[in-house]
Amino acid sequence: MGSDLNITKHLQDYILKHGLKLHPVQKEIINYNLRLGDIKRMQISISQCQFLHLIIKVSKIKKVLEIGTFTGLSTLSMALALPNNGEIIALDKNKETNKIAVNFFKKAEQNHKIKTIIKPALETLIKIRNKKFDLVFIDADKMNYKKYYEISLDLLNKGGLVIIDNVLWQR
Ligand SMILES: C[S@@+](CC[C@H](N)C(=O)[O-])C[C@H]1O[C@@H](n2cnc3c(N)ncnc32)[C@H](O)[C@@H]1O
Repeated sequence: MGSDLNITKHLQDYILKHGLKLHPVQKEIINYNLRLGDIKRMQISISQCQFLHLIIKVSKIKKVLEIGTFTGLSTLSMALALPNNGEIIALDKNKETNKIAVNFFKKAEQNHKIKTIIKPALETLIKIRNKKFDLVFIDADKMNYKKYYEISLDLLNKGGLVIIDNVLWQR
């Protein structure tokens, strides 16, 4: 039986060097988040940006719901992979980080695909229960993950996907 790869720093650097290149505004978001100190760990990793991009492309996803936008790295990564008529509804309760995210979306000329809603996500999820998505990406308050997951199942188009960050935390 084959063994799993041990992702060393060397291997990680190789993947970053030869994998999908980041858009300049994705790089800007990462640099912006670096200046925030410890809170920067909220953003997804570069390999997760590449993973979301790949999934959206190969699954021909058009409509995305994101729960947990922060300064916009995951949202922009998904928007860049969507076709021009693709849509993302991005939920976050933080007005300040949302303003920053929206500026990045405009700068990357992806804002026509992204609608942000600033409210506790559970409130919004009740209001949008008549909508359907091809992908739901959950990356918000862990306490509500189970509820987000259960609600998401009703929001999916046939064959849709739910991707949840941090599932293996503390395992
Ligand atoms: C881990 S960060 C999201 C990171 C983002 N996906 C990225 O790649 O940069 C979690 C986000 O969830 C938001 N959040 C936490 N609790 C929330 C809630 N109840 N409703 C909506 N957003 C919430 C926080 O404001 C924060 O921006």
